[in-house]
Amino acid sequence: MTSTDVRSAPSGLSLPPGFALGAATAAYQIEGAHDVDGRGPSIWDTYSHTPGKTFNGDTGDVAVEHYTRYPADVALMKDLGLDAYRFSVSWPRILPAGKGAIEQRGLDFYRRLVDTISEAGIAPWLTLYHWDLPQALEDEGGWTNRDTAQRFADYAGIVYDALGDRVPHWSTLNEPMCSSLLGYQAGAHAPGHTDSAEAAKAVHHLLLGHGLATQVMRDKGADHLGITLNFTPMSPASDSAVDVDAARRQDGQQNRMFITPIVTGEYPADVVEDLAKAGAPLPIQDGDLEVISTPVDWLGVNYYYAAVVSGGHEPKSPSTFIGCEDVREEEQDGPTTTMGWSVNPDSFTELLGRLSAIAPGLPMFITENGSAWPDQVAEDGQVHDQQRVDYLHAHLAAMVTAIEAGADVRGYFAWSLLDNYEWARGYEQRFGLVHVDYETQVRTPKDSAHAYAEVIRQYKAGA
Ligand code: NOJ
Repeated sequence: MTSTDVRSAPSGLSLPPGFALGAATAAYQIEGAHDVDGRGPSIWDTYSHTPGKTFNGDTGDVAVEHYTRYPADVALMKDLGLDAYRFSVSWPRILPAGKGAIEQRGLDFYRRLVDTISEAGIAPWLTLYHWDLPQALEDEGGWTNRDTAQRFADYAGIVYDALGDRVPHWSTLNEPMCSSLLGYQAGAHAPGHTDSAEAAKAVHHLLLGHGLATQVMRDKGADHLGITLNFTPMSPASDSAVDVDAARRQDGQQNRMFITPIVTGEYPADVVEDLAKAGAPLPIQDGDLEVISTPVDWLGVNYYYAAVVSGGHEPKSPSTFIGCEDVREEEQDGPTTTMGWSVNPDSFTELLGRLSAIAPGLPMFITENGSAWPDQVAEDGQVHDQQRVDYLHAHLAAMVTAIEAGADVRGYFAWSLLDNYEWARGYEQRFGLVHVDYETQVRTPKDSAHAYAEVIRQYKAGA
């Protein structure tokens, strides 16, 4: 703790009783050990090893060696005072071919990890799918294939059987918007396709997989099941009809297409129409929406920034959203992270209010929030990431404002515990509270880690 941290701590941050303060990671981004203990290849192994796909050709082969260094990483979490830790299970460690033979060594790893976390007094929050689909399933069409939804439910049942007795909090998917639209529409993530019809199929099959997996785990006794969705508010750059419609279309696919069917059992009508018009209809079959809307216990909210968009531009393909080739994101005033994302804490408050209205009665957990900055280890051996400290404090305060206005938010997970593999952006983008030297794997808590520890300490002390 330095005096700077205390000075910039948000004043009057009053969190409700029993609020969980944690940090999050994901398997492919931190584990490394890609060919250890029988793990099969995932779409991210294939994609990252394809020349030209990722920044600098970076892959998750080694990442931050969490597979072997997890005891020290859990000790770091304990030092920070974390109540909760969100991590994901790698499907190809458990089922190297996506289905069929189970790899016991994979299950054993997560059992050891979970036990270590719990022994440190930290609650484990398990995500079943954070983007690393077994390559063998992609070879059969991946998420464009309806059968993958059933395979996901089978995998969920296997992991639940192995860890259900020791993991209280379960999430099916992380950000299905990225798995479908970035993976099959924009080509910016694995498997790197740019086909709108495939992307629409992936959207629907991911949601179907979520519903089926929820049913499987519910039948086995799970009582704290959720899904993590990412939200990026979209405002029109002007009040022109073109810009307003651009914002509506992108908001539809980014912010409504996943949450609405889960909570209401129906896709938003305008989104269904937009997709059909773009030649990418959702492949809905009878009964699917009942499965998709199987009740969940909580909603995971990932929030990073808000976008300002304009429409009517010269079409540019591929677009992130289906039929949005004419839409552009505008630059905004104020600080921008190294991801190119603006800093909009007020939009976080608004979003939480909006979600409370869309999903009344559904408790929310902020499963990710964080920022990437050009961190460097200073001469004193520390990382003075004041911008991340400011971002953290501003977003915690924005969340509290939403809670005070009635949003039922019960926990917050900083993204990320450690610097890690930022997907196609490689190791260049650093999101960690803890700095990692990728040459030596040395971990150094940044000023933001100390600041977060202080927030947690004050909360626990009832300050
Ligand atoms: C969301 C994803 O879940 C996570 O994997 C990623 O690293 C962060 N956003 C930052 O982009």
